[in-house]
Amino acid sequence: MKAISATGLFKDYSKVRALSGINFHVEKGEIFGFLGPNGAGKTTFVKILLGLVFPTAGDVSVFNLPIGGRNVRKRIGYLPENMRLHGFLKGYEFLDLAGKLYGLPKLERKTEIDKYLEIFGLTADAGRPLREYSKGMLQRIGIAQALIHNPELLLLDEPTSGLDPIGTKEVRDIILKEKKKGKTIFINSHLLSEIERTCDRVAILNKGKLIKIGTLDELSDSAPTIMVEVEEGSEKLLKGLKKVSKSVRVENNKYYLTPKDDNTRGAIPEVIVKANARLVTMSEDKESLEDIFYRVVKEEEGS
Ligand SMILES: Nc1ncnc2c1ncn2[C@@H]1O[C@H](COP(=O)(O)OP(=O)(O)OP(=O)(O)O)[C@@H](O)[C@H]1O
Ligand SMILES: [Mg+2]
Repeated sequence: MKAISATGLFKDYSKVRALSGINFHVEKGEIFGFLGPNGAGKTTFVKILLGLVFPTAGDVSVFNLPIGGRNVRKRIGYLPENMRLHGFLKGYEFLDLAGKLYGLPKLERKTEIDKYLEIFGLTADAGRPLREYSKGMLQRIGIAQALIHNPELLLLDEPTSGLDPIGTKEVRDIILKEKKKGKTIFINSHLLSEIERTCDRVAILNKGKLIKIGTLDELSDSAPTIMVEVEEGSEKLLKGLKKVSKSVRVENNKYYLTPKDDNTRGAIPEVIVKANARLVTMSEDKESLEDIFYRVVKEEEGS
């Protein structure tokens, strides 16, 4: 069964085409990563699923049902990217309100709220007003709010934004636990390492267009990434490496290359010598999601 399905989906705001003919689906029970640079259209897509934004053209459904109805909305838990909360509400009151909005009976609300406060380490803060919460605490309670009514589909817009490494791991563990219960989880993110660790499949969106979709294995080029580290990088070296590679990503004095063909490896030493650079190390690794993301976005943009 399909949890999410989009066909020929377009969204035009007054001046911007935010989504441009999106076609894909998410299977029930998948953890699906929706990746894209800022402004790619990720949040717009999630808002369409919730019925908060109307598509300009095309079809979209959740659990094979049209969007917008109460029955569908009830089955979705949503973490917005910038949650605005009433600062005067106490942590417990906020979750209680969320539970009420989803129609949970009082007793069930209490059990669920206590459970999630505990899981997110917020039990001691339950009586404090939200205006006193740190960014990470707000993010945690936001996720708790999305889970409180035991939804079948979770839409998480940048779930680990603002979280420390411990919080990030907690969220990851919770996501994996929800998957085990058969839930479908749709994550918007540009935190690639997060997606890499949890997602079954990913789609890469750029300027409203879906440019890649698949498992990480399917997305990664069969060729590995070559890393060249030099004592001091230069424009000349970058230019030379670009000539022999499909794409080059630079981090300090490290150059990550996607080989153009089998000859790339052999051509690198000459490029380094010509650029008067001193080699520190050179290594090969499986292409990481960061490399895939960078490569497909650059390929799409033709640079
Ligand atoms: N309410 C709106 N009115 C007009 N334009 C909008 C509106 N919401 C989004 N846009 C535009 O649509 C495009 C996609 O925005 P969207 O928020 O969906 O991107 P995003 O992928 O979620 O980005 P980010 O990673 O920064 O959160 C952007 O160009 C944005 O300016
Ligand atoms: Mg967004």
